[in-house]
Amino acid sequence: MICLGIEGTAQKLGVGIVDEDGNILANEGKIQKIVEGIHPREAAQHHAENLKPLIERAVEKAGIKLKDVDLIAFSQGPGLGPCLRVIAVAARTLSLMLKKPIIGVNHCIAHIEIGKLLTKAKDPVTLYVSGGNTQVIAYADGRYRVFGETLDIAVGNMIDQFARELKLGAPGGPIVEKLAEKGKYIPLPYSVKGMDLTFSGLLTASIKAAKNHRIEDVAFSLQETAFAMLTEVTERALAQLGKKEVLLVGGVAVNKRLQQMLRDMAKEHGAKFLVPERRDVLGDNGAMIAWLGILMFKSGYRQKIEDTLVKQKFRTDEVEVTWI
Ligand code: ATP
Ligand code: FE2
Repeated sequence: MICLGIEGTAQKLGVGIVDEDGNILANEGKIQKIVEGIHPREAAQHHAENLKPLIERAVEKAGIKLKDVDLIAFSQGPGLGPCLRVIAVAARTLSLMLKKPIIGVNHCIAHIEIGKLLTKAKDPVTLYVSGGNTQVIAYADGRYRVFGETLDIAVGNMIDQFARELKLGAPGGPIVEKLAEKGKYIPLPYSVKGMDLTFSGLLTASIKAAKNHRIEDVAFSLQETAFAMLTEVTERALAQLGKKEVLLVGGVAVNKRLQQMLRDMAKEHGAKFLVPERRDVLGDNGAMIAWLGILMFKSGYRQKIEDTLVKQKFRTDEVEVTWI
């Protein structure tokens, strides 16, 4: 069985083709250039213009014909309404045209499942960190449950906003990581509330600190503070649930310092730290959507066209997990 998956919840458009053994035959992406934050309608326009050529490229890369595809999967949410609607319409069209089943999948769960596929993790506590999401998730009693999350902005968004405010460039993540290599610690506000986190106070304080400190020192301290907060919440979930694996996914997961902090923490708990080596599966991508489509389909899940309406606020724990 071959599944074609379409991702497009935010500014990144992706088309992935995966077979039922978990071989990624193609994983093509295209990202809308953004200068001043995301404009949902412009991002949707970008997706509409680029999806057809991207599907053609993915099919060619996979060395198949479109008619060889057995299942169409797409990101049903959470995400930006206009973007979600473009890919949902495309997925429905493909499904009807090819007379193949369609499955709308949860974007956050797709990040976890592709991470598990590539690291061979079995039952991890997952930290999902990106520009739009910050969640600590683990499987319990038939669902993926969110044990902790940001109460305001996502950690990637916080770093991007910091970089944009100081005119360092975009996206901020890799730029701040580089600057942080030569930085020293200055205290910044640390904000963990129970299992949840907030980042806007840290953002405001970092922008302010940049007025009278070296930018390298602020970058270093921003990372240390934000990543220590993430590590603390992940550690609590790990200890509480007694799991033996920590999995890191999402666009921010490429950050070496964050990886190191989590690796050290996992080690103290006798747990394994896992992060996929392939960078193209860490951020938003089509392969993760295709793979979750396959898992759901093989476990008996079916969807009618009427069930494919987009869900902007699609919650991780809404999905009944039938494939574990
Ligand atoms: P989602 O829809 O899941 O929220 P996204 O649209 O933010 O995803 P991703 O590709 O998953 O897209 O993540 C992009 C984020 O990753 C940006 O905020 C970017 O700054 C951040 N990032 C990229 N590289 C690094 C890095 N080296 N260190 C920290 N953050 C990084
Ligand atoms: Fe994502």
